[in-house]
Amino acid sequence: MTVSLNGKTAIVTGAAVGIGPAYAHALAAEGVDVAVCDIRPEIMELPAQLEAKGVRAFGMIADVSKPDDVRRFVDETISALGGIDILINNAGKCKVSMADDALDKTLDDYEEMVGTNLKGEFLIGRAVIAQMLEQGRGGEIVNIATDHMFTCGAPHDQCPKNPNCPWADARRPTSGGHMMDIYDASKWGLNGLMFAWAQALKPHGIRVNAMCMGATDSWMIRDFFRFPQTPSEETEEQQKEIATWMAKEDVAQVVIDLLKEGPGGRNANNINLCVGRPPKLEPALPLLYIQEEALHGDA
Ligand SMILES: NC(=O)c1ccc[n+]([C@@H]2O[C@H](COP(=O)([O-])OP(=O)(O)OC[C@H]3O[C@@H](n4cnc5c(N)ncnc54)[C@H](O)[C@@H]3O)[C@@H](O)[C@H]2O)c1
Repeated sequence: MTVSLNGKTAIVTGAAVGIGPAYAHALAAEGVDVAVCDIRPEIMELPAQLEAKGVRAFGMIADVSKPDDVRRFVDETISALGGIDILINNAGKCKVSMADDALDKTLDDYEEMVGTNLKGEFLIGRAVIAQMLEQGRGGEIVNIATDHMFTCGAPHDQCPKNPNCPWADARRPTSGGHMMDIYDASKWGLNGLMFAWAQALKPHGIRVNAMCMGATDSWMIRDFFRFPQTPSEETEEQQKEIATWMAKEDVAQVVIDLLKEGPGGRNANNINLCVGRPPKLEPALPLLYIQEEALHGDA
């Protein structure tokens, strides 16, 4: 059985470019009022597009790594839309970083990636959880992580659901490899938030899950691979690679299906979407780092 999302209220962070706007549009198509924020000014164009789908929408230029911006965004979302039922903790940054990087460079990278990917999700979470608890009508938190928590970032032809997958019958190694130590650390840190939040908030009907997807076409991944942002400028070689990536609309649909599970659905789950198999909500994975009973006991 699935629940209707119609009439609920959601926040999507980092919704100016990339996968974020797809989450916002998919929510609006379900009748959800949506508040969006981003550091890019073009975020202010999104509310009108969402309102065209017949919902209320609110937008703000806000940096999720800054506590004052987060407070202002969450407070003004509540004023504009009346409450918050769903948080899609999406804003993220990704850059190459390596173990032997110079300290000065690496400190900037650390502030940027940990500041947005971990501190940002933490700050927005704290602000939204307080509101959800005050509302007393449950809620949904979806932290956006990465498939690096599951895999080595295996290319699509080595996907675990592929008969030729080298890890089909084994536990796979994790992480994005030696060029992404800070990004991976920031995303792995989300496990700490997810498990603790899921456990503490379960008695209040608030679920906390994480999306751990592989390569999805977005501004970020094109920037990472130095691919053009405009499809008409792609080379044939690039087009072949891009064709292996997931579409942001498909990833957004998986989030909608997750939300539609409602309060009785999976909790504290890292949801893995690997390139190479259709992006869809697969059955919940057994809990690895937290005991099932912990989700059913007292807070
Ligand atoms: N694209 C992929 O292949 C992929 C794979 C796994 C996980 N992810 C994760 O999905 C999320 C979205 O990624 P994307 O690919 O759409 O990236 P993107 O760079 O295309 O979009 C990210 C958006 O977040 C905004 N943003 C960045 N820092 C911010 C901050 N401090 N405050 C507010 N907004 C901020 C950016 O301006 C941008 O609009 C990220 O958390 C990313 O780590 C992406």
